Amino acid sequence: MKRKIMLFGASGSTGVQICKELESRSMNYFAFVRKDSVSKLKLFSPSITTGDVLVIADVEKVINENDFTDIIVAIGSRDFRGGEIRSNGTKNIVSALNSNGKQARLHVVSANGVGDSWNNLKWYEKLICKLFISKAMKDHELQEECVTANPGGFHIIRPVGLNNELGSGKIIIKKSGALPNSKVSRANVARYLVDSLSGNTMGRHSICDA
Ligand SMILES: NC(=O)c1ccc[n+]([C@@H]2O[C@H](COP(=O)([O-])OP(=O)(O)OC[C@H]3O[C@@H](n4cnc5c(N)ncnc54)[C@H](OP(=O)(O)O)[C@@H]3O)[C@@H](O)[C@H]2O)c1
Repeated sequence: MKRKIMLFGASGSTGVQICKELESRSMNYFAFVRKDSVSKLKLFSPSITTGDVLVIADVEKVINENDFTDIIVAIGSRDFRGGEIRSNGTKNIVSALNSNGKQARLHVVSANGVGDSWNNLKWYEKLICKLFISKAMKDHELQEECVTANPGGFHIIRPVGLNNELGSGKIIIKKSGALPNSKVSRANVARYLVDSLSGNTMGRHSICDA
């Protein structure tokens, strides 16, 4: 199957790992980035579209002009306490697909603890979520709701705490149940994301480093 891939959030810490992973497999892709962030992709060679994911016209334009088979969503906010960027940005992507009658599978970087994975968390992880990142978690909850309404299908990846260590390639993936670790490298998340995209994996999976 010939894929046409779009990556939202390409300039982010996980996004650049996804660029690296796609390029290591010689997979062509498009990257949607804000104008001021184009330089963050200087080591990579995607087809770049500049825009703001919160501006529906920007998102509609690129979706209307292309027939993407797969859309990767790795958007986020560096303000760990807040933002509605994940849900509002994803809502725009799904709405642009629907209003243009397009079908693409969404591959979304969410977070462990969202939705039914809340039960996977240990008591102190629940406390951290409630005390420090409740707004981000709420944003991911709303994001996941938009994603599950996507007619083209979805794969939601729910990582535990992200870090920038080199990816060992060894991860643990769970549909349910507690994970043994509370960290995962962004490189490992990227590798899993691209593996699962290539393998047509769907549904929701939580992941941590092995
Ligand atoms: N940190 C953790 O431990 C952890 C754990 C589990 C899950 N997560 C989730 O994993 C995801 C990725 O995390 P990360 O650390 O890679 O995020 P990040 O480095 O903050 O990257 C966020 C990306 O979103 C882009 N973005 C933000 N607002 C945008 C807008 N209006 N239009 C277009 N692009 C926009 C940013 O672009 P710019 O470069 O232009 O700013 C950047 O490319 C996040 O959703 C986060 O909540 C994080």
